[in-house]
Amino acid sequence: MPAARTTPVVLETPVIPGTAVRLVIGGVDFTARAPVALAPMAGVTDGSYRLIAKEMGCALVYTEMISDNALIYGNERTERMLRISNGERPIAVQLFGNDPKTMACAAKLIEELASPEIIDINMGCPTLKIVKNREGAALMRNVPLARDIVASVVSAVNVPVTVKMRSGWSGELANAVELAQAVESAGASLVAVHGRTRDQFYSGRADWNIIKDVRDAVSIPVIGNGDIRSPEDAKRMLAETGCDMVMIGRGALGNPWLIRDVVTFLSTGTQTPPPTYEERMTLALRHLEMLIQLVGEQRAVLKMRKHAAWYVRGIPGAATARNYINSAKTGDEMASAIRVAFSGELC
Ligand SMILES: Cc1cc2nc3c(=O)[nH]c(=O)nc-3n(C[C@H](O)[C@H](O)[C@H](O)COP(=O)(O)O)c2cc1C
Repeated sequence: MPAARTTPVVLETPVIPGTAVRLVIGGVDFTARAPVALAPMAGVTDGSYRLIAKEMGCALVYTEMISDNALIYGNERTERMLRISNGERPIAVQLFGNDPKTMACAAKLIEELASPEIIDINMGCPTLKIVKNREGAALMRNVPLARDIVASVVSAVNVPVTVKMRSGWSGELANAVELAQAVESAGASLVAVHGRTRDQFYSGRADWNIIKDVRDAVSIPVIGNGDIRSPEDAKRMLAETGCDMVMIGRGALGNPWLIRDVVTFLSTGTQTPPPTYEERMTLALRHLEMLIQLVGEQRAVLKMRKHAAWYVRGIPGAATARNYINSAKTGDEMASAIRVAFSGELC
């Protein structure tokens, strides 16, 4: 039996159906917030991006996934992933692994080093390197092990433990409902469901029906995830699935304003005008500065290449802008590539 949860989870009927929920998790009351979470994205959702998401009104952010073994072996870069500033809270730190004992040990380290509001377990990563190691989405094929991992982590820490999963391993094994029930019984406080199977990776359309099926089958809160690209999508997912919060992933790449737009739409029903080029340039430059502070100039420039390419998407001359961005080697070169991109000179 897992240890009793020490932090309350309260879930009641939505205050305004489909827009706000009575959701308290880990002592954090999300009731007054628009129910919008930023998806964990490896290589993307570091401290800089999480802060930007919070500034856009995001209720909950997740770290990139963190390896249990890398943490236990004291990997410096992994430990740096646990540096969390107050502005990012409430935050879920996401952990991946395949062994109940090492997962519990790593979760304790996370609790000591970062005191997150939530520890999340990755049961959705589809990449071969991860699933070959029986981690990530491979846990969907091994429900007893998934349950043991959750029970073990729940016993080890005092913060709520949650799980992010896919709709299943494959079309034939779309067992999110079974897995959600199993991890609920092991003490999980919330599940996030990405409506694609592991076989689909990121292609095809997310199946929101399975999010509804999970919502109907468990009594813990459910976060719905997959293909939210507009405020209307978010509202529709809340209404169609009954999920308690929506989670935005790729739609926010280079466009964190999507978070702001969804939050505004869910809170007030109004649409927000898109950001101007000036706003896009200013945020991209700030993002670069934040990354330099976080990981140093050299790594920041490399990381910023993909972000900058996303920020300039859709502007006239974007292809030329990407050439400048990809050849930038210093912070100054990257900053001027961003300025030039938005200057109108590349049309
Ligand atoms: C670049 C990238 C990295 C990702 N890394 C993670 C991760 O570390 N942990 C995780 O649970 N999901 C990860 N995901 C999956 C997303 O959290 C999300 O489930 C998926 O993108 C579907 O949502 P979307 O349709 O809004 O993009 C990643 C997705 C992308 C595109």
